[in-house]
Amino acid sequence: MRGRFITFEGIDGAGKTTIIHRIGPELKKRGHRVVITTEPTRTWLGDAVKKSYDDDVGPLAETFLFLADRARHTTQIRESLARGATVICDRYADSTYAYQGARLRGVVDEPIRWLRSVSAPAVLVPDLTILIDVPPRLGLRRIAGRKRKIRFEREAFLTLVAENYRELARSRRFARIDGSRSAEDVARDALEIIDRRLGRRGH
Ligand code: TYD
Repeated sequence: MRGRFITFEGIDGAGKTTIIHRIGPELKKRGHRVVITTEPTRTWLGDAVKKSYDDDVGPLAETFLFLADRARHTTQIRESLARGATVICDRYADSTYAYQGARLRGVVDEPIRWLRSVSAPAVLVPDLTILIDVPPRLGLRRIAGRKRKIRFEREAFLTLVAENYRELARSRRFARIDGSRSAEDVARDALEIIDRRLGRRGH
């Protein structure tokens, strides 16, 4: 039986990683075989992506690196799904639509539409995408203590990214959660949505 594919999205500091690590064990208890994965990936392609935004190679080169990393990642996700796993991905294609959709303004016409079209062969449509929504100022405050600073972490830019996410979240594939609350509350909502939309799984 094909597994389930769930992606988590949100701006920097939204809390995706924390929430995913809280719900992973809960989903296991409910009978899911859980695979947690993340983008940029922990491979040389993911390292190249990280280098691209540290060095600022420009929005187009950066976009194609994200897509290259995703293309290979998608192959692995497809294999896990074929084994029946519930794959939870910390960022996926919607990150590119939201972030590079903002970066490519003025570079290509209708950036999100363009990105969807060039990425089509390299992406799977998730069964469910959970958008953890936080105001950019709160996201930035949460990550202020992190040592490694990323070029995208500026309020004006993250405001554009957040707008793109809200626009994307109009699709029925999305569920939007208010991420400004405690991790406990956000994780409880996320689990409830997963149960409701995808059902419980038996072995
Ligand atoms: P992030 O999940 O914040 O990684 P880390 O674990 O290093 O904190 O992702 C790194 C940055 O990359 C983040 O600012 C969002 C950005 N990003 C894109 O711009 N496009 C994409 O397609 C992806 C996956 C991430």
